[in-house]
Amino acid sequence: MNIRFCRKEIGEEEVDTIISLIPESLPEAFKSIDPALKKKIEEISRDLPLYTKDSFVLLTPEGVKAKRVLLLKVPPSLDPLELRKVYSQAGREARLKELGPDVAITLTGLVDPLVEIEIAIEGIAQGSYLPNLYRTEKRERDLENLILCHPPTFEAQKVAGKAELVANTQTYVRNLVNEPASVVTPLYLVEEAKRIAAETGSEIEVLSVEQAEKMGMGAFVAVARGSDQPAFMVKLHHPGKGGKNRLTLVGKGLTFDSGGLSLKPWESMITMKSDMAGAAAVLGAFRVLPLLRPELDLMGFLALTENLPSGKAYKPGDVIKAMNGKTIEILSTDAEGRLVLADALAWAVKEGAKHIVDVATLTGACIIALGHETSGLFSNHPSWTEKILQAAKKAGERVWELPMFPEYKELIRSEIADLANSAGRSGAPAGAIFGAMFLKEFVPEGIAWAHLDIAGPSWLPKNNKSISGGATGASLRTLIELGLDF
Ligand code: BES
Ligand code: MN
Ligand code: ZN
Repeated sequence: MNIRFCRKEIGEEEVDTIISLIPESLPEAFKSIDPALKKKIEEISRDLPLYTKDSFVLLTPEGVKAKRVLLLKVPPSLDPLELRKVYSQAGREARLKELGPDVAITLTGLVDPLVEIEIAIEGIAQGSYLPNLYRTEKRERDLENLILCHPPTFEAQKVAGKAELVANTQTYVRNLVNEPASVVTPLYLVEEAKRIAAETGSEIEVLSVEQAEKMGMGAFVAVARGSDQPAFMVKLHHPGKGGKNRLTLVGKGLTFDSGGLSLKPWESMITMKSDMAGAAAVLGAFRVLPLLRPELDLMGFLALTENLPSGKAYKPGDVIKAMNGKTIEILSTDAEGRLVLADALAWAVKEGAKHIVDVATLTGACIIALGHETSGLFSNHPSWTEKILQAAKKAGERVWELPMFPEYKELIRSEIADLANSAGRSGAPAGAIFGAMFLKEFVPEGIAWAHLDIAGPSWLPKNNKSISGGATGASLRTLIELGLDF
């Protein structure tokens, strides 16, 4: 989606559709519009019910250059996150009703205009995305040009430029996650990482399974063994100005999770191409942050593999050794995310990480706990927790902290090894906390670490009124805001 600012009065812009959210009365931008249209909009908005279907497409009379107006009635007070969802709904309706390719928007003034510009651009892009990558028929024409009816001040242009980049990166991440696992393999993600490194002037280091094994990454190697696709550990580094402020992002990149020998039931396996959503979000952040904040010292680690059953696959009962020397008893080969992350975290620490966020579709239990709207946050460091909650708030993403009380350490106990990778039975209590307690073992105390379990929000099982089902790009904007404010 391309963004530009209005060159004329809104009624003079030759666009397909003007999108307008109407809180109570018409937005400022309409003051110069054709009086008959204005009267009509006022009538309709009076009659439009709030909180129901709440939208209306109006054909414009002769004399107005726009072909139509998409009206959405909104409550007179909304917080930025809610307003973002309404813009997303507007984008979705505009796409499904094919009101593009050129749409103009007027701001509501419900929140600070600079905030609203950002929310409107990102929201409309998010809502107008359809996951129909492989449809050969009926692919609704996308919104191509978004025209902002707002004075193009220096600040407004800066915010719009940022939002355009973020919006396009959201789409990039969603496409990566929506692509089938036979397309997006570990090697495919390595190629993407290389391309992003070249584009952003970042260094990249790619480890094969053999190299990972030499470095002692027994947990990652165990998971990778069952797959015929070559697996990789990737380190990205954008040094920025260097110094002690270095942010480290770690992503779970299971391009397909069958469960391994502890095979998933077929219904649970259907969406498992999305088990690399954490790695995709980290790649997205790497695509954006070096451009928006070149001085930031940013490291990224991706653990990329499939989890498949085969004659070479690791087995329940195996004991493996991670890079930090800890031994792990495997009770379920389906608890593989924590294994590959164990080595990715240990590697990150070895490479000098001091502030870490890992992002992972780690547990079904986190979906049971928080649903698809909210990511679970776990951390060993209260002020780091606070920082991430703030970033999520700024990004308009729902994140909620879950506890890691010391009593939970009992969960990960093994009789035979240092740790067990799972409870060894399904439906065991505190599954999301189990995962976090396990990861914590791979980050020495004193290093600020946080874990975002995005299993719920990264993938929506069905469409809703503001966004398509499937990949959402969850956590990308939180990582970006964190990096911008780090
Ligand atoms: N990738 C899954 C978690 C998941 C489940 C993500 C559903 C998205 C939707 C993870 O590797 C997994 O299989 N976790 C197990 C852990 C269990 C074996 C301890 C789970 O959640 O059941
Ligand atoms: Mn699994
Ligand atoms: Zn998994």
